[in-house]
Amino acid sequence: MASRHVEIAPALLCTTREEFLEKLRQVEPHAARAQYDVMDGTFVRNTTVQPKALRRLRTPVRIEVQLMVQHPADYLHDCCRMNAWMVIFHYEALKEKKKILQFINQARAHNLKVGIAINPKTSALVVKPYLKRVDLVLVMTVQPGFGGQKFIPATLKKVAQIRKWAPKLDIEVDGGINKETAPLAVKAGANVLVAGNAILKAPSVEEGIAAIRKALR
Ligand code: DX5
Repeated sequence: MASRHVEIAPALLCTTREEFLEKLRQVEPHAARAQYDVMDGTFVRNTTVQPKALRRLRTPVRIEVQLMVQHPADYLHDCCRMNAWMVIFHYEALKEKKKILQFINQARAHNLKVGIAINPKTSALVVKPYLKRVDLVLVMTVQPGFGGQKFIPATLKKVAQIRKWAPKLDIEVDGGINKETAPLAVKAGANVLVAGNAILKAPSVEEGIAAIRKALR
């Protein structure tokens, strides 16, 4: 298995503030990082609780916000207000270099770390120009919009390609990550694993995370 440290981030896919806070409380004792899924009903068909409903969040967990939204810059202020640690925008929402660089600069101006995400069908080549400007690349291993989908193994070729281009960059995978697929992702070069159902639907969060950790040994 790769020597680099692997982080596991539970995915918080919630429709209400109450659900988000409940899931966050469950993961707090076991995870230093969690991913909060934001969906606008346009970029993806689903909608989730919005950052403005989570203002002044108090948690020791580093919250990365995956913006599955058409206009990610519209969310920066509220991501700050909820004390987010990182925002991850989708390449497919911005596409043009000018818009992407503008978003990265705006996020940095808000003191947020920045990640770029690509959907399963999007080529790894689109992120190459930004590898020195972002803190993370998220290679989606399912089509964004819903939890509990089947892992798409073909996406791992992109993880390996990006790892070759950027040996030290955080490469994250998200979607269908569990004790079977996590070792495949890490072998390909991922070092941050986002998991929803494998952790939140396990008998306990602790057991869910431990099962993935054990599979990586
Ligand atoms: C999908 C989300 C994922 C999802 C992960 O749109 O970005 O974070 O919630 O859920 P699992 O791990 O159950 O596939």
